[in-house]
Amino acid sequence: MKRIATMLSPEEIDSRLREMGREISEDYAGRQLVLVGVLRGAYMFLADLCRYITIPIEVDFLGVQSYGDETTSSGVVRMTSDLSRPIQDKHVLVVEDIVDTGLTARYLIQNLETRKPASLALCALLEKPKNNVGGVPIRYLGFTIPDQFVIGYGMDYASLYRNVPYIGVLEDQKEN
Ligand code: IMP
Repeated sequence: MKRIATMLSPEEIDSRLREMGREISEDYAGRQLVLVGVLRGAYMFLADLCRYITIPIEVDFLGVQSYGDETTSSGVVRMTSDLSRPIQDKHVLVVEDIVDTGLTARYLIQNLETRKPASLALCALLEKPKNNVGGVPIRYLGFTIPDQFVIGYGMDYASLYRNVPYIGVLEDQKEN
C-alpha cells in the first residue's frame, strides 16, 4: 500500500454532507426526488449523503467509465449500466464523486435530459475547477480541490483505494 496524504478527513466530509443534505431537503420539499448515483465512484458519497436527506427519495444508479487505469480522462465516456426505472416527470439529482474535465457530467446531463425529467441538476462531492473548462454547472458542491488525483471515499486509482474512509493523494503523485 502506498503512503496516502490526507486532503479531507472523515469529519470534514461528514459535516459538509450534513449541510448539503439539509439544503437538498429544503429545496426539494414536496417534490418527487430521485438521486441518481454515478457508479462506481459515487457509491460512498451517495450512501452517506442520503442519510442527511430528510424527505422521501428514490435512489437509482447508472454506471459510466471514462478513465481506464490512468489518472487522466480518456475523453470518451461510456455508459456501462443504465437506470432501473424511468425518470420522466421526476426531479432528478445526479450524484457524482468528482467533476474533473466535466465530460462525464455533460454526457450524463445530455443523456438524461432526453428522458424528460421534471428537473435535472448535478450534485458533486468534489470539483477541480481548473479542469472543468466547459463550466458544467454544479448545483450542490461539497469541496473545490486543486488539480491533483485523489483517492478514497469511493474513488479509485487502478481499481484500488475505494475503501479508504477519507480523501487523499498518493504520495508519489503529489508532485504531478
Ligand atoms: P471527468 O469526466 O473528467 O469530469 O471525470 C469524471 C470521473 O472521472 C469521476 O466521476 C471520477 O470517477 C473520475 N475521476 C476524475 N478525477 C479523479 C480523481 O482525482 N480521482 C479519482 N477519480 C477521478
